[in-house]
Amino acid sequence: MLEKVLFTAIGAEGKSIARVENQVVFVPMLVPGDIADIQVTRKRKNYMEGRVVRFHTLSPDRIKAPCIHFGVCGGCQWQHLPYDLQLQFKEKQVRDSLERIGKIDLQGFSPITGSPDLYRYRNKLEFAFSDKRWLTREEVASDKEFNREDAIGFHLPGFFDKVLDIRECLLQPEPSNAIRNVIREYAHRDRLTFFNAREKSGFLRNLVIRNSLDGNVMVIMVFLYEDEKRRKGLMDHVAEKFPRVTSMFYIINQKKNDSLSDQDPILYCGEDHLTEKIGRLSFRIGPKSFYQTNTRQSVQLYQKAREFAGLTGSETVYDLYTGTGTIACFVADSAKKVIGIEYIREAVEDAEKNAAINRISNVSFRAGDIKSVLSMDFISEHGSPDVIITDPPRAGMHEDVVKSIVEASPQSIVYISCNPATQARDIQLMSDQYAVSRVQPVDMFPHTSHVENVVLLVKR
Ligand SMILES: C[S@@+](CC[C@H](N)C(=O)[O-])C[C@H]1O[C@@H](n2cnc3c(N)ncnc32)[C@H](O)[C@@H]1O
Repeated sequence: MLEKVLFTAIGAEGKSIARVENQVVFVPMLVPGDIADIQVTRKRKNYMEGRVVRFHTLSPDRIKAPCIHFGVCGGCQWQHLPYDLQLQFKEKQVRDSLERIGKIDLQGFSPITGSPDLYRYRNKLEFAFSDKRWLTREEVASDKEFNREDAIGFHLPGFFDKVLDIRECLLQPEPSNAIRNVIREYAHRDRLTFFNAREKSGFLRNLVIRNSLDGNVMVIMVFLYEDEKRRKGLMDHVAEKFPRVTSMFYIINQKKNDSLSDQDPILYCGEDHLTEKIGRLSFRIGPKSFYQTNTRQSVQLYQKAREFAGLTGSETVYDLYTGTGTIACFVADSAKKVIGIEYIREAVEDAEKNAAINRISNVSFRAGDIKSVLSMDFISEHGSPDVIITDPPRAGMHEDVVKSIVEASPQSIVYISCNPATQARDIQLMSDQYAVSRVQPVDMFPHTSHVENVVLLVKR
């Protein structure tokens, strides 16, 4: 046990940091200024991890978290930090990654752009059903007897079979909570069984809710097996109760894991997509298409990417990891042509439809893994890129993709990333040929330690 430890900073993954006898101690969910007794849960050569046993002093910076599930749910762990402090920590995380991992000179660094919405900013949430509700510490410590109750909510980090029952989540606008709660009620009334991850049993498995800024909602229900009568009963009930649900899909997922990327959603009723607007552009979003989760903030992100690209109308632009082609369409009217690459076929189909809906004729898309698509043949076919915009997932770019970008030799690269550590690693690999000219962190995910970052790299 470590006694009266003063926490002074927040590091990567949002864990609070203290120093005790030249060792770093990481503890989740503390605020710099907190003093607490810490039970060490893991000891390594250079650092320790622990959990709070008793507080001595609470930091004056703490604020009251508004969410009723705060502290148990792993989702928004920074709600007890004022937003300006969250932004400071995120900005520091970007600076540290770029300086330490990327060895980058940060002269072109601009202050982080905060999110216009601090709550209800997400346009997509995925919930899990479980017949094993997570019991809180207080419930376990109490004398009460708890039957293993059903839950719809979020997995606790590290527990694939236990789910925290979510009554109200502040991340998505209504009717997200209402839909989930109505489904729970209906399932109990109709005695529908909830998923058991160990035994692989139970009818109800996952629920995905997506929404657009105009208030329309897509519901995707995932069942473990087909039971037409029960499935229809539930889905009709949701459709009847929620007129703003304009699109309903279902999936029968009999696999071991919950991932839906290899599943085929079946349209149950309504439209097969949602429509989102950015300025005068409209985008269709299918059930499996990636769309930036914080819709309003994504506009600021795209504007920054377009500004960094510095297009004059004569450029050939490659938009790598294009998703549904949002960035490609967003920059198209300032470029000669834009070519987007993306490996989810359905997203590429949506990207093509997006270009058509918006009457954009100078964009085209290629479906496939960028690692194999971005080759010299591809470049001869489409022309050398003047600008490459790249927006990979958290893992960053494959080394071969980084090499291909350098070989393609564009004048500039706009690198958008949701993980400054992998971004810094990739930039370092290009540092002989490209210099960092501008850096703009953007907060897409308030109350989490996640941060998006846009970097402009210019050919040396
Ligand atoms: C962070 S998202 C960016 C989407 C898009 N730029 C936007 O703003 O909406 C990353 C995208 O890359 C795609 N992706 C991931 N790995 C890929 C790969 N190896 N080849 C092609 N696409 C990939 C994902 O399907 C996803 O659509």
